[in-house]
Amino acid sequence: MTAPYRTLRWQGDAEGTLFLTDQTRLPEQYTEVEVTSAEALRDAICRLVVRGAPAIGVAAAWGMVLGTQSVRNGDREAFDRKLRDTGRLLTDSRPTAVNLSAAVNRMQTVADRHPDEPAADVHDLLYDQACRIQSEDEQMCRDIGRNGAFLLDSVQGVLTHCNAGALATAGDGTALSVIFAAAASGRRPHVYADETRPLLQGARLTAWELQQRRIDVTVICDSMAAQVMKEGRVQAVITGADRITARGDAANKIGTYGLAVLAKAHDIPFYIAAPSTTFDLTISAAGDIPIEQRPADEITHGFGRQTVPDGVRIYNPAFDVTPAELISAIVTERGVIDHPDAPSVQRHLQ
Ligand code: MRU
Repeated sequence: MTAPYRTLRWQGDAEGTLFLTDQTRLPEQYTEVEVTSAEALRDAICRLVVRGAPAIGVAAAWGMVLGTQSVRNGDREAFDRKLRDTGRLLTDSRPTAVNLSAAVNRMQTVADRHPDEPAADVHDLLYDQACRIQSEDEQMCRDIGRNGAFLLDSVQGVLTHCNAGALATAGDGTALSVIFAAAASGRRPHVYADETRPLLQGARLTAWELQQRRIDVTVICDSMAAQVMKEGRVQAVITGADRITARGDAANKIGTYGLAVLAKAHDIPFYIAAPSTTFDLTISAAGDIPIEQRPADEITHGFGRQTVPDGVRIYNPAFDVTPAELISAIVTERGVIDHPDAPSVQRHLQ
């Protein structure tokens, strides 16, 4: 069964608009927002209306189509300028997920490969490429689920962090796709979802998705994970990733690294599920992954009330990096990398 909701939906042809599920309103309300410009898309990405590494990559591809719509019937030079400006506008909206800049670069390459075509024709090619990026993402989600389901074979309880489901991709998700695939084949492990401070993607989004899909879920505060492991409630941890280095270190939502340390201490396997496009082979040191810093008010005034005294300093990194040594396996659409390291990552991707 695929998701009964669409995280991103393009309406029209090359001159269409993008509809996004407004993830800031879940779980209270399921609504869509219509995005008609690259500027509006940047704002939606920054505010996490659309979020999750693969989803913001696909959204950015559509952003390149949106950003150049108004100049498609003009001269090619102006079109190229607008395309580059749009790429810059979108690329730095969220720095950690490699999917975003990768999608922008892929779109830019389409234009670069057709230097002599009129703007309208290149714009049509950009539209085709955005369609391809979206459908590839859907397919990768399916394949990740199929490849990873066996990891949950003898698992009664599985812990996940943040949201790596349909809301984070164009398809069924990455980590949640593995859970959906396991459930579809009758295994149905009980899912523990970390609430995922400070923005509660686990409580608001993962729990909502699992409930929609009739998968048993229990939400816990992030600080409860150690106790849940100690009590023997989970036999696996699985999360998504925003960027993976050439040696297999994985950046994901803040708190993931801590979970991997806890899993190691309790002898529980820790899995990452991500498309192969999440690997950034230009980065071999975990410390070189750019970590997004988010606004202080997400911590001081989360969800409508002040929870920190005025004037107190806040540190709010949105992501951390789990070293490869703590990762039991990485599941991609190509298969599974057991105990990732530089040679196994290289073999997997070649
Ligand atoms: O800040 P977010 O909500 O975009 O963070 C999302 C995550 O950390 C996900 O786990 C990651 O992007 C993988 S989604 C398939």
